[in-house]
Amino acid sequence: MLSKEDAAILEQLPAEEGLRFVSSRFQDRAVFSTSLGQEDQVITDMIFKASLPIKVFTLDTGRLFSEHYELLSQNNARYTSKTEIYFPDSQDVEAYVNEKGINAFYQSVENRKECCFIRKVKPLNRALANAGIWITGLRSEQSQNREQMPVLEWDEERQLYKYNPLMHWSYQEVLDYLKQHNVQELSLHKKGFISVGCQPCTRAITQDEDPRAGRWWWESSHKECGLHSH
Ligand code: ADX
Ligand code: SF4
Repeated sequence: MLSKEDAAILEQLPAEEGLRFVSSRFQDRAVFSTSLGQEDQVITDMIFKASLPIKVFTLDTGRLFSEHYELLSQNNARYTSKTEIYFPDSQDVEAYVNEKGINAFYQSVENRKECCFIRKVKPLNRALANAGIWITGLRSEQSQNREQMPVLEWDEERQLYKYNPLMHWSYQEVLDYLKQHNVQELSLHKKGFISVGCQPCTRAITQDEDPRAGRWWWESSHKECGLHSH
Protein backbone atom coordinates (compact mmCIF):
# COMPACT_ATOMS: atom_id res chain seq x y z
CA MET A 1 0.00 0.00 0.00
CA LEU A 2 1.01 3.58 -0.53
CA SER A 3 0.84 5.99 2.38
CA LYS A 4 -1.04 9.25 1.81
CA GLU A 5 2.31 11.04 1.64
CA ASP A 6 3.67 8.59 -0.96
CA ALA A 7 0.55 8.98 -3.09
CA ALA A 8 0.85 12.77 -2.96
CA ILE A 9 4.53 12.56 -3.97
CA LEU A 10 3.82 10.17 -6.82
CA GLU A 11 1.08 12.36 -8.27
CA GLN A 12 3.58 15.21 -8.63
CA LEU A 13 6.57 13.30 -9.99
CA PRO A 14 7.50 13.48 -13.68
CA ALA A 15 6.80 10.18 -15.47
CA GLU A 16 10.33 8.74 -15.44
CA GLU A 17 10.83 9.42 -11.74
CA GLY A 18 7.32 8.21 -10.96
CA LEU A 19 8.03 4.86 -12.62
CA ARG A 20 11.23 4.51 -10.60
CA PHE A 21 9.38 5.40 -7.39
CA VAL A 22 6.64 2.86 -8.12
CA SER A 23 9.09 0.07 -8.94
CA SER A 24 10.94 0.60 -5.66
CA ARG A 25 7.75 0.79 -3.55
CA PHE A 26 6.03 -2.23 -5.13
CA GLN A 27 9.09 -4.32 -6.04
CA ASP A 28 7.90 -7.05 -8.42
CA ARG A 29 4.20 -6.15 -8.01
CA ALA A 30 4.28 -3.20 -10.44
CA VAL A 31 3.04 -4.07 -13.93
CA PHE A 32 2.59 -2.10 -17.14
CA SER A 33 0.11 -2.95 -19.91
CA THR A 34 1.19 -1.90 -23.39
CA SER A 35 -1.03 -1.76 -26.47
CA LEU A 36 2.13 -0.78 -28.42
CA GLY A 37 0.57 2.64 -29.11
CA GLN A 38 2.66 5.83 -29.00
CA GLU A 39 2.11 6.58 -25.29
CA ASP A 40 2.92 2.99 -24.41
CA GLN A 41 6.12 3.07 -26.46
CA VAL A 42 7.22 6.10 -24.39
CA ILE A 43 6.60 4.26 -21.11
CA THR A 44 8.19 1.03 -22.39
CA ASP A 45 11.30 3.00 -23.32
CA MET A 46 11.46 4.58 -19.85
CA ILE A 47 11.05 1.21 -18.09
CA PHE A 48 13.38 -0.86 -20.25
CA LYS A 49 16.15 1.73 -20.55
CA ALA A 50 16.33 2.10 -16.78
CA SER A 51 15.97 -1.71 -16.32
CA LEU A 52 13.16 -1.14 -13.82
CA PRO A 53 11.72 -4.34 -12.31
CA ILE A 54 8.27 -3.76 -13.81
CA LYS A 55 6.50 -6.51 -15.75
CA VAL A 56 5.62 -5.19 -19.22
CA PHE A 57 2.85 -7.12 -20.94
CA THR A 58 0.56 -6.90 -23.93
CA LEU A 59 -2.79 -8.54 -24.64
CA ASP A 60 -2.75 -10.35 -27.96
CA THR A 61 -6.44 -10.52 -28.82
CA GLY A 62 -5.81 -12.67 -31.89
CA ARG A 63 -7.22 -9.83 -34.05
CA LEU A 64 -4.30 -7.39 -34.02
CA PHE A 65 -2.66 -5.77 -37.05
CA SER A 66 0.46 -7.43 -38.50
CA GLU A 67 2.17 -4.09 -37.66
CA HIS A 68 1.72 -4.90 -33.95
CA TYR A 69 3.82 -8.04 -34.32
CA GLU A 70 6.48 -6.17 -36.28
CA LEU A 71 6.81 -3.61 -33.51
CA LEU A 72 6.86 -6.28 -30.82
CA SER A 73 9.78 -7.95 -32.61
CA GLN A 74 11.55 -4.61 -32.99
CA ASN A 75 11.15 -3.91 -29.27
CA ASN A 76 12.50 -7.34 -28.41
CA ALA A 77 15.52 -6.71 -30.62
CA ARG A 78 16.19 -3.26 -29.18
CA TYR A 79 15.84 -3.83 -25.43
CA THR A 80 17.23 -6.59 -23.26
CA SER A 81 13.95 -6.93 -21.35
CA LYS A 82 11.01 -8.59 -23.07
CA THR A 83 7.30 -7.86 -23.28
CA GLU A 84 5.15 -10.72 -21.99
CA ILE A 85 2.20 -11.73 -24.15
CA TYR A 86 -1.17 -12.81 -22.79
CA PHE A 87 -3.70 -14.64 -24.93
CA PRO A 88 -7.43 -15.15 -24.42
CA ASP A 89 -8.74 -18.51 -23.25
CA SER A 90 -9.07 -20.67 -26.39
CA GLN A 91 -12.32 -22.27 -25.19
CA ASP A 92 -13.92 -18.84 -24.67
CA VAL A 93 -12.93 -17.72 -28.17
CA GLU A 94 -14.05 -20.97 -29.80
CA ALA A 95 -17.45 -20.90 -28.09
CA TYR A 96 -18.01 -17.25 -29.03
CA VAL A 97 -16.98 -17.41 -32.70
CA ASN A 98 -18.70 -20.72 -33.37
CA GLU A 99 -21.94 -19.56 -31.81
CA LYS A 100 -22.02 -15.91 -32.92
CA GLY A 101 -19.72 -15.64 -35.92
CA ILE A 102 -16.14 -14.60 -36.53
CA ASN A 103 -17.01 -10.90 -36.94
CA ALA A 104 -20.06 -10.81 -34.64
CA PHE A 105 -18.84 -7.56 -33.02
CA TYR A 106 -20.30 -5.56 -35.93
CA GLN A 107 -23.82 -6.82 -35.18
CA SER A 108 -24.47 -5.27 -31.76
CA VAL A 109 -22.78 -3.38 -28.92
CA GLU A 110 -23.53 -6.39 -26.73
CA ASN A 111 -21.63 -8.75 -29.04
CA ARG A 112 -18.80 -6.26 -29.30
CA LYS A 113 -18.47 -5.92 -25.54
CA GLU A 114 -18.55 -9.69 -25.13
CA CYS A 115 -15.72 -10.05 -27.66
CA CYS A 116 -13.69 -7.37 -25.81
CA PHE A 117 -14.42 -9.10 -22.54
CA ILE A 118 -13.17 -12.47 -23.80
CA ARG A 119 -10.20 -11.19 -25.78
CA LYS A 120 -9.06 -8.31 -23.54
CA VAL A 121 -10.66 -7.98 -20.13
CA LYS A 122 -10.34 -11.60 -18.95
CA PRO A 123 -6.68 -11.91 -20.02
CA LEU A 124 -6.02 -8.49 -18.45
CA ASN A 125 -7.43 -9.65 -15.14
CA ARG A 126 -5.17 -12.70 -15.31
CA ALA A 127 -2.15 -10.49 -16.01
CA LEU A 128 -3.06 -8.26 -13.07
CA ALA A 129 -3.74 -11.11 -10.63
CA ASN A 130 -0.81 -10.48 -8.26
CA ALA A 131 -0.20 -6.85 -9.09
CA GLY A 132 -0.21 -4.06 -6.52
CA ILE A 133 -0.08 -1.26 -9.09
CA TRP A 134 -1.13 -1.21 -12.74
CA ILE A 135 0.57 1.30 -15.04
CA THR A 136 -1.17 2.46 -18.24
CA GLY A 137 -0.59 4.96 -21.05
CA LEU A 138 -3.94 6.74 -20.64
CA ARG A 139 -4.00 10.49 -21.36
CA SER A 140 -6.78 12.89 -20.45
CA GLU A 141 -6.77 14.49 -23.91
CA GLN A 142 -7.68 11.20 -25.59
CA SER A 143 -11.42 11.49 -25.03
CA GLN A 144 -14.16 13.11 -22.98
CA ASN A 145 -14.36 9.96 -20.83
CA ARG A 146 -10.71 10.34 -19.92
CA GLU A 147 -10.68 14.08 -19.21
CA GLN A 148 -11.39 13.63 -15.52
CA MET A 149 -9.17 10.60 -14.92
CA PRO A 150 -6.46 11.11 -12.29
CA VAL A 151 -2.74 10.29 -12.44
CA LEU A 152 -3.19 7.87 -9.54
CA GLU A 153 -6.35 6.08 -8.44
CA TRP A 154 -7.46 3.12 -6.37
CA ASP A 155 -9.22 0.46 -8.45
CA GLU A 156 -11.69 -0.96 -5.94
CA GLU A 157 -12.85 -3.78 -8.19
CA ARG A 158 -9.36 -5.09 -8.87
CA GLN A 159 -7.96 -4.04 -5.49
CA LEU A 160 -4.91 -2.29 -6.88
CA TYR A 161 -3.60 1.17 -7.70
CA LYS A 162 -3.79 2.41 -11.23
CA TYR A 163 -1.01 4.78 -12.24
CA ASN A 164 -1.24 6.81 -15.45
CA PRO A 165 2.09 8.67 -15.67
CA LEU A 166 1.32 10.42 -18.98
CA MET A 167 -2.18 11.54 -17.96
CA HIS A 168 -1.38 15.24 -18.40
CA TRP A 169 1.00 14.96 -21.33
CA SER A 170 -0.07 16.57 -24.60
CA TYR A 171 0.09 14.58 -27.82
CA GLN A 172 2.98 16.84 -28.90
CA GLU A 173 4.96 15.88 -25.79
CA VAL A 174 4.48 12.20 -26.67
CA LEU A 175 5.71 12.83 -30.22
CA ASP A 176 8.67 14.86 -28.93
CA TYR A 177 9.76 12.08 -26.57
CA LEU A 178 9.54 9.47 -29.33
CA LYS A 179 11.64 11.65 -31.64
CA GLN A 180 14.23 12.73 -29.07
CA HIS A 181 14.82 9.17 -27.92
CA ASN A 182 14.56 7.65 -31.35
CA VAL A 183 11.82 5.28 -30.20
CA GLN A 184 10.18 3.15 -32.89
CA GLU A 185 6.41 3.21 -33.31
CA LEU A 186 3.66 1.43 -35.22
CA SER A 187 4.01 2.21 -38.93
CA LEU A 188 0.20 2.68 -38.91
CA HIS A 189 0.57 6.11 -37.26
CA LYS A 190 2.04 7.48 -40.49
CA LYS A 191 -1.05 6.22 -42.33
CA GLY A 192 -3.63 8.21 -40.38
CA PHE A 193 -4.15 5.86 -37.44
CA ILE A 194 -3.76 7.54 -34.04
CA SER A 195 -5.52 5.35 -31.48
CA VAL A 196 -5.02 1.74 -32.59
CA GLY A 197 -6.87 -1.31 -31.31
CA CYS A 198 -7.81 -4.55 -33.04
CA GLN A 199 -7.64 -4.55 -36.85
CA PRO A 200 -11.35 -5.10 -37.59
CA CYS A 201 -12.35 -2.44 -35.04
CA THR A 202 -9.97 0.39 -36.00
CA ARG A 203 -9.90 2.67 -39.02
CA ALA A 204 -7.72 5.65 -40.00
CA ILE A 205 -9.05 9.10 -39.10
CA THR A 206 -9.07 12.41 -40.94
CA GLN A 207 -7.31 15.48 -39.51
CA ASP A 208 -10.44 17.08 -38.11
CA GLU A 209 -11.64 13.93 -36.34
CA ASP A 210 -11.32 13.09 -32.66
CA PRO A 211 -8.26 10.82 -31.96
CA ARG A 212 -10.54 7.93 -30.96
CA ALA A 213 -13.04 8.37 -33.82
CA GLY A 214 -11.46 5.41 -35.62
CA ARG A 215 -12.19 2.97 -32.78
CA TRP A 216 -15.46 0.98 -33.13
CA TRP A 217 -16.42 3.71 -35.62
CA TRP A 218 -19.77 2.12 -36.43
CA GLU A 219 -20.96 2.57 -32.81
CA SER A 220 -22.16 5.69 -31.06
CA SER A 221 -21.27 4.19 -27.64
CA HIS A 222 -18.64 5.55 -25.27
CA LYS A 223 -15.91 3.76 -27.21
CA GLU A 224 -14.40 1.94 -24.26
CA CYS A 225 -13.77 -1.78 -24.23
CA GLY A 226 -14.07 -2.43 -20.53
CA LEU A 227 -10.35 -2.21 -19.71
CA HIS A 228 -10.78 1.28 -18.29
CA SER A 229 -14.48 1.81 -17.68
CA HIS A 230 -15.94 1.05 -14.30
S1 ADX B 1 -8.77 0.85 -25.13
O1 ADX B 1 -9.43 0.60 -23.84
O2 ADX B 1 -9.46 1.82 -25.97
O3 ADX B 1 -8.42 -0.37 -25.85
P1 ADX B 1 -6.39 2.39 -25.52
O4 ADX B 1 -6.09 1.72 -26.82
O5 ADX B 1 -6.83 3.81 -25.56
O6 ADX B 1 -7.44 1.52 -24.67
O7 ADX B 1 -5.15 2.24 -24.57
C1 ADX B 1 -5.16 2.80 -23.27
C2 ADX B 1 -4.30 1.94 -22.36
O8 ADX B 1 -4.93 0.67 -22.20
C3 ADX B 1 -2.93 1.63 -22.93
O9 ADX B 1 -2.01 2.64 -22.60
C4 ADX B 1 -2.62 0.31 -22.27
O10 ADX B 1 -2.12 0.53 -20.95
C5 ADX B 1 -3.97 -0.36 -22.16
N1 ADX B 1 -4.22 -1.27 -23.32
C6 ADX B 1 -5.09 -1.10 -24.32
N2 ADX B 1 -5.05 -2.14 -25.18
C7 ADX B 1 -4.13 -3.00 -24.70
C8 ADX B 1 -3.60 -4.26 -25.13
N3 ADX B 1 -4.01 -4.87 -26.24
N4 ADX B 1 -2.64 -4.85 -24.37
C9 ADX B 1 -2.22 -4.27 -23.22
N5 ADX B 1 -2.67 -3.09 -22.79
C10 ADX B 1 -3.61 -2.45 -23.50
FE1 SF4 C 1 -13.09 -8.05 -30.38
FE2 SF4 C 1 -12.98 -5.73 -31.71
FE3 SF4 C 1 -12.91 -5.80 -29.00
FE4 SF4 C 1 -10.83 -6.61 -30.49
S1 SF4 C 1 -11.65 -4.50 -30.32
S2 SF4 C 1 -11.63 -7.63 -28.71
S3 SF4 C 1 -11.88 -7.64 -32.22
S4 SF4 C 1 -14.61 -6.39 -30.38
